[in-house]
Amino acid sequence: MNTLSTGNTPSNPVSTLSRRKLVNWFVASSFGALILSIIYPVLRYLTPPRIAEPSANEVEAGTTTDIDFRDKAFKIVRFGADPVIVVRSGEEQFLAFSATCTHLDCIVGFQKEHNRIWCNCHGGAYDLTGRNVAGPPPKPLTPYKVHLIEQPSGPATIVVSKV
Ligand code: FES
Repeated sequence: MNTLSTGNTPSNPVSTLSRRKLVNWFVASSFGALILSIIYPVLRYLTPPRIAEPSANEVEAGTTTDIDFRDKAFKIVRFGADPVIVVRSGEEQFLAFSATCTHLDCIVGFQKEHNRIWCNCHGGAYDLTGRNVAGPPPKPLTPYKVHLIEQPSGPATIVVSKV
């Protein structure tokens, strides 16, 4: 028996239906991927990963001939999560304190010409014992211990530890 096909009816309805499903699926999944690519970075930004800071009992702060000590007479090093300022107070003498200002937590520096630890934020000043001597800082800086480890060849290594 012969069947006649008209121009309006699809030649294979099953094939058209599955093609439509495929296109719908592709559009839906593309839209889903677009939404995810927008939402995921926003969520990652809002919830930063919690990385535990390594705790430290002592850290190396370079050598006694580091260019920072020669040029500025100080260096900021990381002690775990805390910044520590190491100051060259004499030829082979070094001091270390917490580098976080006790006023509003700015990072302090050292003014070689005035021989003082200085906070640029509000003009706070500390002497070389860490005592707050001028400006708004309410408390002294926390001191750290400094050890010089002599090396068989080359300059001594500076090691900072908690008091
Ligand atoms: S934060 Fe240092 S003086 Fe204010």
